[in-house]
Amino acid sequence: MSNWKPPGPPERWGGLNHLRAIRSDFREFSHSLHQQYGDVVTYRVLGQPVYQFASPALAHEVLVEKARSLHKPDNQKRAFGRIIGNNLFTSDGDQWIARRRLLSPMFLPQSINRYREIVLRRAADVFEQVSEGEVDVSRTANKIALLSVAESLFGARVQEQSDEFLEVATRLQEAVTRQILSPLLLPLWIPTRDNRTVRSSLKFLHGMISSLIADHRQSSDERPTLLKALLSATDSVDGTRLNDRQAMDEALTMLLAGSDTTAAALSWSAFLLAKHLDMQHQLRMEVNLLPADNMLSAHPTGGLQLAEHVFKESLRLYPPAIAIARQAAEPVVIGNAQIPRGALVFVSVYSIHHDSRWFPDPEVFEPRRFASEPESAIPDHAYLPFGLGPRACIGHRFAMMEGPLVMAEMVRRFDFRLIESSREPELETQLSLHPRNGLRLVLRRCANI
Ligand code: HEM
Repeated sequence: MSNWKPPGPPERWGGLNHLRAIRSDFREFSHSLHQQYGDVVTYRVLGQPVYQFASPALAHEVLVEKARSLHKPDNQKRAFGRIIGNNLFTSDGDQWIARRRLLSPMFLPQSINRYREIVLRRAADVFEQVSEGEVDVSRTANKIALLSVAESLFGARVQEQSDEFLEVATRLQEAVTRQILSPLLLPLWIPTRDNRTVRSSLKFLHGMISSLIADHRQSSDERPTLLKALLSATDSVDGTRLNDRQAMDEALTMLLAGSDTTAAALSWSAFLLAKHLDMQHQLRMEVNLLPADNMLSAHPTGGLQLAEHVFKESLRLYPPAIAIARQAAEPVVIGNAQIPRGALVFVSVYSIHHDSRWFPDPEVFEPRRFASEPESAIPDHAYLPFGLGPRACIGHRFAMMEGPLVMAEMVRRFDFRLIESSREPELETQLSLHPRNGLRLVLRRCANI
């Protein structure tokens, strides 16, 4: 057993100083700890030991080698579980293994391809309604991300209620974000403003999904949706299926996990392209070379190669999940540190992505980092926007289909620039890493559109 105690910041008032720093800006706090103390850091918050790891090898140790000893943190389970039950995101152990086995086939490449058309249609519709001039691109990105994942999950009927759906889903996201970042999670029955929002939003979404499930049971519509896949998925080992309630909870999990992250990534990609007009121009040339109706069949590694590199580089500079959290289910050694049972463990994705040991000139936007095949210049496990190991993002192929496709559609339709004299957006850690107060850009329609 190792007796080495990692370095860390001094504790004041029982760690209240750290709690304040975490609540004010978790990314800033954890990144500055990495810069000051190194790859392994420890501190306590109100008696709770916390360990932070920030190197590719340590990330691999936490998320792959020692995955069995490290579970999803209790506070994440409580915060999400009370809203969406026991689901893929929050479960652990045998229950998670069975659920992941059941749901994985839905996200195989051949399954994902069916949703390209939906994403492109939703992006086209939303961009069609955007007027020229100053636009909050974060809102536009959020609309596209929510509607794309919603229609992929639930089918075209979502469009009938799309305005109400967008409003409710956005309000739910905002309330859940505030609740997860708050140290005091009041039971849902206490009528605080956010609790009321959560309850009324869930009522609407449950009603909508129940009626879609009933439709699905009765109709012979052959068009695939993720919800149909959820309802008909059969476990390859024990033959079990999800009941309606479980399918509804998994669908909501995907809606929440898949929209805020993708919306954040799209906003940052738009910001980077507005800042680097040469790259925006190159990307527009790449897109305009494709035959008009060919965006759908353009495989990211074929026709939309540069769009894919831009999206990947944006996920490196601004990873929506800045850190991946675990809790020690038993005592475990990571690196040379002895982690006690119950301790919180963070892998600092943001710090690894901004470390010059793994990415030369880490603050420079350079999509070509991802151009060599296979991305050999990037050390193993140094690039982890979707996590690593058994719990890595189940939707990453969906996101890597959606991101480049939406970017391509945006540059095809608009020339977009930073607002003169505006400052770089500040970073804000909500559920995902967003530009604080949204992202305003100036949009002009391209001549041929
Ligand atoms: C750019 C977009 C996205 C990013 C950056 C992202 C990031 C991540 C990360 C880092 C994890 C791992 C969390 C952990 O290990 O604790 C994760 C898990 C997950 N993601 Fe994503 N995600 C994205 C898009 C999506 C989409 C589109 C969906 C679904 C349609 C989705 C559904 C999920 C689910 C269900 C999990 C839990 C998987 C499990 O625990 O087995 N994500 N995501």
